[in-house]
Amino acid sequence: MIGSTHVLASPEIAVVAIPEDERIWVPQAPDVWFRPLMLNTRQGQWCNLLRVRRAGVLSRHLHPNPVHGFVLRGKWFYREHQWVATEGSYVFEPPGEIHTLVVPEDVSEMITFFNIQGSMLYLDENNKHVGYEDVFTKIDMCRAHYESVGLGRDYVDQFVR
Ligand SMILES: [Fe+2]
Repeated sequence: MIGSTHVLASPEIAVVAIPEDERIWVPQAPDVWFRPLMLNTRQGQWCNLLRVRRAGVLSRHLHPNPVHGFVLRGKWFYREHQWVATEGSYVFEPPGEIHTLVVPEDVSEMITFFNIQGSMLYLDENNKHVGYEDVFTKIDMCRAHYESVGLGRDYVDQFVR
């Protein structure tokens, strides 16, 4: 009998991606939030939604590993490219690319699913390294936020693998 004896290393996750409870969105910057979906400490990877409710330049960054994105609402683009990612768009960001995320003026809200391997390295306009994020900094941000809004530090554990 296939499957009768195998033990899953970690349980599955099935959640409503865009939550009703506003507290689940973790503030990242003014008018910018992320919603954790899966925080993979085994492989240094995470899946989240990014929500932005302001127009303009969001961040300039490099990721040493690949990123996959899928736009759920609104639209955005990278200053370095010709395309615009609109609702329903899939985006692949190759390892090593440096780009600058911009939300156009006519967008009141964008929400994009991102699957990020490794880390995000934030750069200034001269490509000087000014900060980073990885699955562990994401977990730390979640813990601090969920504690502050009354969900409790452990609320994030359901997304951690
Ligand atoms: Fe990127």
